[in-house]
Amino acid sequence: MNVLQPIEETRAYDQVFNIRCEYAVRFTDGIFEPLNPTFRDIVAKYEPQRRHRVAVFIDSGVADEWPQLTSEIIAYVRAHAATIDLVALPEIVPGGEQIKHGPEYVTRLTRRLFDLGMDRHSYVVAIGGGAVLDLVGFVAATLHRGIRHIRIPTTVLAQADSGIGVKNGYNAFGVKNLIGSFAPPFAVLNDARFLRTLDRRDVISGMGEAVKVALIRDGEFFQWIEAHANALANADDDALHYLIVRCAELHMRQIATAGDPFETGSARPLDYGHWSAHKLESLTGYALRHGEAVAIGCALDARYSVLQGLLPEGQDERISGVLESLGFRLWDSALLHRDDNGQFAVISGLREFQEHLGGELTITLLAGIGRGIEVHEMDEHAVLASIDWLRSRSAE
Ligand SMILES: NC(=O)c1ccc[n+]([C@@H]2O[C@H](COP(=O)([O-])OP(=O)(O)OC[C@H]3O[C@@H](n4cnc5c(N)ncnc54)[C@H](O)[C@@H]3O)[C@@H](O)[C@H]2O)c1
Ligand SMILES: [Zn+2]
Repeated sequence: MNVLQPIEETRAYDQVFNIRCEYAVRFTDGIFEPLNPTFRDIVAKYEPQRRHRVAVFIDSGVADEWPQLTSEIIAYVRAHAATIDLVALPEIVPGGEQIKHGPEYVTRLTRRLFDLGMDRHSYVVAIGGGAVLDLVGFVAATLHRGIRHIRIPTTVLAQADSGIGVKNGYNAFGVKNLIGSFAPPFAVLNDARFLRTLDRRDVISGMGEAVKVALIRDGEFFQWIEAHANALANADDDALHYLIVRCAELHMRQIATAGDPFETGSARPLDYGHWSAHKLESLTGYALRHGEAVAIGCALDARYSVLQGLLPEGQDERISGVLESLGFRLWDSALLHRDDNGQFAVISGLREFQEHLGGELTITLLAGIGRGIEVHEMDEHAVLASIDWLRSRSAE
């Protein structure tokens, strides 16, 4: 007897759909001035006739410098009561990387928003640096599988780079940004006023990403930074404003047009200088700010690009000179740390960079100022020679 019965043909579907993402990015000065319509208009964007529930979290570093902020927000909401329903007094959360260490604040803020009855049409507003935005952004992305999130970035880095993008997250098991999601915000509202109380160190550090994006995408922007390095180093309002706007534009263009906004491929094309930067941050126990590590990483990979014959001789010195005139120090002794096997610890940053992304090793180098180029191999001897070059420059 034949036991093999004819079976129904296997059914196979390839489900495909596209989602359109859209978020407003606005630049303003004095966002909670009662006559400034920016915030109200964003809240009213889709249902202008309704009153909208809004909860606000403020970075403690911002709250310390702007003690009147809470009363300004309350006055603003009163002036726009037909549109905005502030469900609770603005709440202060710890500023800086500490808020991202582990899930503690994810649980706390999620619980708080749940108790306040926030739904998928309510708004969670975060006012603060990149760390607070990353954490609150994750909470907003996961509560009810995503509620509307308005970012009000208050640092150079967050206004120019992190706040503009589509990522959020927090650190877990000792690994930076291990848990997180890709979730476009509802809106990003950059208020230049906040930058006036930022530490000089954070102003300079935030410019690291601008130099990076200029180097790989926009040579004219690099020349502009070069010509205005003095004004930028002195945190001149106009110069800083231009730097932030141009850097934000380049990031937005990358996200919208490069074809991989949620980073599914093996490349992170905007992460020039980052393979060593991430490693340096952890080797120094985060004593180096992200932007400071990125500046070192940019100089290192510029020298490496010259050694590989990709970038003309002398451009490495030019790039390093610009970074130094902005106020960066291009050396940290962590570059010489050895691991348990006696190997240079920074080199393992290459492997870790690849592991984070998966797939083939892909490192962005420079083929010119304003021209990034991807390579899939790194020569360890040339990396060590580049580190040595940085060391001898800093010793001079
Ligand atoms: N999501 C992304 O795509 C992305 C991209 C790059 C970096 N990041 C993350 O961003 C974080 C770094 O952000 P950052 O550079 O903004 O630093 P930060 O958030 O750590 O803030 C630095 C310090 O400045 C204080 N502060 C913030 N605004 C202030 C103001 N206006 N006046 C005075 N003090 C103020 C904060 O309280 C904190 O102490 C890191 O966690 C990094 O991983 C995220
Ligand atoms: Zn970065």
